[in-house]
Amino acid sequence: MVTVVVIGNGNVASHLVHAFLKVDTINVTQINSRKLTNIPQADVTIIAVSDDAIAKVSSKINNSFVVHTSGSVGLNSLQNKTRKGVFYMLQTFSKDKMVDFSEVPFCLETENKKDYLALETLAKSIGKKVYAINSEQRKTLHVAAVFVNNFTNHLYKIGNEICTEHQVPFEILFPLIKETAVKIETLPPGAAQTGPAIRNDKKTIKNHLDMLNIKQQKIYTILTKSIQNGN
Ligand SMILES: NC(=O)c1ccc[n+]([C@@H]2O[C@H](COP(=O)([O-])OP(=O)(O)OC[C@H]3O[C@@H](n4cnc5c(N)ncnc54)[C@H](OP(=O)(O)O)[C@@H]3O)[C@@H](O)[C@H]2O)c1
Repeated sequence: MVTVVVIGNGNVASHLVHAFLKVDTINVTQINSRKLTNIPQADVTIIAVSDDAIAKVSSKINNSFVVHTSGSVGLNSLQNKTRKGVFYMLQTFSKDKMVDFSEVPFCLETENKKDYLALETLAKSIGKKVYAINSEQRKTLHVAAVFVNNFTNHLYKIGNEICTEHQVPFEILFPLIKETAVKIETLPPGAAQTGPAIRNDKKTIKNHLDMLNIKQQKIYTILTKSIQNGN
């Protein structure tokens, strides 16, 4: 039996606890990150709290092996005096949205091989895709994720606003959004690019700009230039 303590009750902690509870070989305990007295000893202690609270929370933990779940916090930010590691899942987690852990990449980092194997076993008990990723590589992935996830989602928001303003159903764009995401699994994103910017359709670009407000024009122009410059 592998014993796991999960500290926190937010999005990531809730999904992890839910997943571990389904595994016969794991005994999981969830601890409120604001009440860190009486933490049971465990093989792996997972701190799943806000990035800025990781150092403080970890400084109060004496368990033998402590990991955090952040994409942007280094392994050495952990302040426990025992062994350290990172158990980062590169996916977006919201409490009310189910997660298919078999599709979640687990990015693991530890100080020694034995701890890596322990985290790998833990990750494979709930998921399939496991990668050894050090703190520098994780930072790289995190900034790339901001572009492909947060910025893309912001562009969906703008698209939704434009449709709403002109009374056209946004849902008509859903298949295009899905196909664009799926396409880059078989074609490099640069090669997959279509649209007026890459074709340099100047009249279409001008017509689009005429329809947009100032904020939308700025974003449209920056992205159009970036596509045309290939960088
Ligand atoms: N959500 C994602 O999509 C996602 C994906 C990958 C990695 N992560 C990483 O996973 C970690 C948790 O993210 P999350 O989305 O689960 O966060 P969250 O839902 O906002 O939950 C944050 C947790 O941190 C606790 N907390 C905040 N400030 C604290 C403090 N000063 N002292 C003690 N506890 C504190 C909160 O406790 P209270 O409820 O008492 O405030 C809550 O349990 C972060 O490092 C994040 O970068 C998140």
